[in-house]
Amino acid sequence: MPKLSPTQPFLHPGAEVHDTDFGAYCEVGAGSRILHSTFEDYAYCDRQSDIANTTVGKFANIAAMTRIGPTDHPYANASLHHFLYRSELYWDDAPDDQDFFARRKARRTVIGPDTWVGHGAIIKPDVTIGAGAIVASGAVVTKDVAPYLIVAGVPATPLRARFTPAVADRLQALAWWDWSHDRLRQALPDFRALPAEAFLEKYEG
Ligand SMILES: CC(C)(COP(=O)(O)OP(=O)(O)OC[C@H]1O[C@@H](n2cnc3c(N)ncnc32)[C@H](O)[C@@H]1OP(=O)(O)O)[C@@H](O)C(=O)NCCC(=O)NCCS
Repeated sequence: MPKLSPTQPFLHPGAEVHDTDFGAYCEVGAGSRILHSTFEDYAYCDRQSDIANTTVGKFANIAAMTRIGPTDHPYANASLHHFLYRSELYWDDAPDDQDFFARRKARRTVIGPDTWVGHGAIIKPDVTIGAGAIVASGAVVTKDVAPYLIVAGVPATPLRARFTPAVADRLQALAWWDWSHDRLRQALPDFRALPAEAFLEKYEG
């Protein structure tokens, strides 16, 4: 694989991308489908991810076979079949229901910075995953997840906190994910070697 680029996302074979903006050093796994979304700097997803109407925050790590922002059918109506809104597929004189598509697009999912979404997880539309949170493999997330919380299960519930509340607050205040590429490079040995608290002590102003 070539190096990741500050100007172009690396799209693996078979990745399908529509109406999506990418920051620097982004990557989309093979066979993934990304619709109406934003990938901020350093965000990536692995193979066969399906992501729609989502802001994927800086340094987000999305594992393979995840589904983020799965869209709903109109299930309060007499039929929930997509002939109601994808009508042009079936008739020459029935336009698609653009209002329905606009309402779906407006339901944004937000994945915070430095998050990890485990293999096969599903995250519903309108859900926000806080900075530094972890979604366990196989989880179905139906509600917002607080920063630096680890959630698991169907529906997802808290497993434990990644750090104490004080350390979580300090990491969010430090917001290292906004540092420049050069500053990250300089701090790389400390990211590798230091536990979070020692890292904070060294880098807090
Ligand atoms: C969430 C996660 C980070 C927790 O890791 P961990 O701290 O090593 O977890 P442990 O194995 O010690 O398990 C802790 C508890 O969580 C439960 N648990 C762990 N993973 C779980 C999951 N995916 N779903 C439901 N429960 C889970 C365990 O059963 C255990 O429960 P218990 O305390 O009642 O016995 C990890 O299990 C996970 O899901 N990682 C994602 C891996 C992945 O998808 N990788 C893809 C490549 S990036």
